[in-house]
Amino acid sequence: MVRIAPSLLAANFADLKNEILRINKTRADMLHLDIMDGNFVPNLTFGPVVIKSIRPYTNIPFDAHLMVQNPDKMLEWFALAGADIITVHAEACPQLDKTIDAIHTLGLKAGVALNPSTSESVLKYVIDKLDLILVMTVNPGFGGQKFMEGQLEKITRVKKLIGNRDIILSVDGGINPMTSAMAIAAGADMLVAGTAIFSGDDIANNIEALR
Ligand code: DX5
Ligand code: ZN
Repeated sequence: MVRIAPSLLAANFADLKNEILRINKTRADMLHLDIMDGNFVPNLTFGPVVIKSIRPYTNIPFDAHLMVQNPDKMLEWFALAGADIITVHAEACPQLDKTIDAIHTLGLKAGVALNPSTSESVLKYVIDKLDLILVMTVNPGFGGQKFMEGQLEKITRVKKLIGNRDIILSVDGGINPMTSAMAIAAGADMLVAGTAIFSGDDIANNIEALR
């Protein structure tokens, strides 16, 4: 069954602790943390301090999606804050292979994210080292954007590239009960969703509606 990762970006930031406790009562598989630096993407969110402050309230694995210009110098911050997976953007890593090794050296799992305009070919020489691949189905920077159907083809290609390797194929952006079906059919193993999960009161039901 497809895994679901709520994106904290759409939660109520004035009440983060209770948002985490609310997620604990669902069957969420992972918590997706959108880190934006106002540079790699035109928006700013939060950093390791916030991750550290929510870590004691849940056992759900944390995936830190780093939408930042220079992730290499920040990897240790996110490891110390309690991330389980660090996902970096291929576009922000001139020595992607080295960055993946650095994440593993910190004892974490490593993911690589691809912007919509980035070809999956950048994965070819690093794929054997990866734990997760994140296909962006919106241009990163904001929640609530429209799912880009043109990326379905990329999801299928990446699925094929993964073959029988133990790598999670995650899809992020514009996921709702309609688009989740398309992403799953194309080969997604995990769906990241913010807006579709945090709208309304029943987040458990919203999560199951995506599977
Ligand atoms: C976009 C982020 C996404 C975002 C998804 O830059 O990477 O994780 O939170 O939000 P929705 O589900 O609202 O598209
Ligand atoms: Zn994200």
